[in-house]
Amino acid sequence: MPVATAIAHPNIALCKYWGKRDLALNLPSVGSLSLTLAPFSTTTTVEWGAERDELVLNGQPGTAEEARKVFAVCDLVDSWRPRVRVTTQNDFPTAAGLASSSSAFAALVLAACAAAGEKRTLEQLSVMARRGSGSAARSIFGGWAEWALGERSDGMDSHAFEIAPVDHWDVRMLVVIFDAGPKGVSSRAGMLRTQETSPYYSAWVASAPRDLAEGRRAVKERDLNALGRVMERSALRMHASMMAADPPVLYWKSGSVWAQECVRGLRDQGVPCAWTMDAGPNVKVLVNAADAQTVADRLRCVADEVHILEPGGPARLVP
Ligand code: PMV
Repeated sequence: MPVATAIAHPNIALCKYWGKRDLALNLPSVGSLSLTLAPFSTTTTVEWGAERDELVLNGQPGTAEEARKVFAVCDLVDSWRPRVRVTTQNDFPTAAGLASSSSAFAALVLAACAAAGEKRTLEQLSVMARRGSGSAARSIFGGWAEWALGERSDGMDSHAFEIAPVDHWDVRMLVVIFDAGPKGVSSRAGMLRTQETSPYYSAWVASAPRDLAEGRRAVKERDLNALGRVMERSALRMHASMMAADPPVLYWKSGSVWAQECVRGLRDQGVPCAWTMDAGPNVKVLVNAADAQTVADRLRCVADEVHILEPGGPARLVP
């Protein structure tokens, strides 16, 4: 039976994706920018030609909803595919707002194409990963990646690409955890509710292209102060749009605000750092590598766990 294993790292968006212009194809309303992060990873093995479709996620059978999404992505590899067995392992908390779906679907498409003997370009892999989870389009690439909005109605130009390689800039991303439980509202449901009911959604979409252009420039120039301003602005505007939904989508907890205040305090003392938040209460903080330990020690006063992550490489097959 043809088998392949792939490993991918999650990514954290610096300029956010929130909202879809096409639900079925998972096409975004805005372009986004991210950093792929090691050592957190997902390892996925696909056996192409099993007795039945089967998903094993972290040693447990996947839920019906997880299985539906995973096998729908396998159908994209080959609509006449045989039955497949997918075994996937995350080495970090699933559904804690740490974008585990980004590494999961990136590893899945790479392993599934290899097991099926299908040769695809990185852009085609990114398009397929996007169908499983938008942010996964970016985890095909290492380092600094942009996911292009695209124009085509079939979505084939809405894929990620690398804007700077993994060794471009010696930074760290600190993942500050107060709450490792599953999130209350999925990013998919939260986006839909925001676009259907929030009076601020159109303002968010209108503001995103400028943030993306500034974010891209700041990454290329390795300007942490400029990137920090864009990161926090993008995160706050995204969260403002969802907080104004009806009913509101509110991922923040008191710990989120404490961590943000801690970052502001460090910045006032001359340590360049900036925070971002996704569809969960945990906070991520971007710092220069040389400051990572000092900033992590300070954040440990307000958090249960602080992980120090570094720029990670692209999704890859495990020999
Ligand atoms: O890829 P999804 O559908 O899980 O959505 C990701 C949404 C955010 O993490 C909040 C933003 C982003 O760009 O990753």
